[in-house]
Amino acid sequence: MTEQSLGSARPFRIAVFASGQGSNFQTLIDSSREGTLGAEIVLLVCNKPEAPVVERARRAGVDCFVFERKSYSRREDYEAEIAEELARRGVDLIVLAGYMLLLTPVLVEAYQGRMINIHPSLLPSFPGKDAIGQAWEYGVKLTGVTVHLVDGGMDTGPVIAQKAVEIDPEDTIETLEEKIHSAERDLYPQVVNWFADGKVRIEGRSITIS
Ligand code: GAR
Repeated sequence: MTEQSLGSARPFRIAVFASGQGSNFQTLIDSSREGTLGAEIVLLVCNKPEAPVVERARRAGVDCFVFERKSYSRREDYEAEIAEELARRGVDLIVLAGYMLLLTPVLVEAYQGRMINIHPSLLPSFPGKDAIGQAWEYGVKLTGVTVHLVDGGMDTGPVIAQKAVEIDPEDTIETLEEKIHSAERDLYPQVVNWFADGKVRIEGRSITIS
């Protein structure tokens, strides 16, 4: 996307962190191509060299920082390398999209208020792994998707946006997963655009969009 088409001096720059399939990453790439994302995706960070998201990034021509957790004794060490890559590219916002490693203060503090995560439940219900499965097993009638700021905890940061998804009697776990992923596709580019447009106001746990 060009500077002119964004109407500002410099494009808003995001880095996406992902560990797996990368369907949310793909949504952001597609939105960028369609001209509906007011941000440039300048880096993919991935801790699984064989993850499908890496191939998606290569196809889209997005730079990748790929590493293996086991090559580092401390999490702080690879995060320091990531922080250098982010600084070199002038990243404005970190977008976690299925990044399955806990973060340390190296990144959490440096990007406080500038790092977001998407989670497939209505937090604070069903944090952690397999949130869709957890909601399905629990038997709730309503679940959904949450986008939140990242703090030091697991899915505990202030909520930016949520989208509800009803579980109907005819649903299976597979159709529920598809409904959740569809809600993620609707919500994540919109939230990235709120940040790019400077619309997000943060006061403690209270986040307003203006
Ligand atoms: C997404 O459903 C995302 O919400 C979830 O991982 C999936 C990644 O899918 N994230 C979490 O559970 C974070 N706690 P993707 O790789 O196809 O985008």
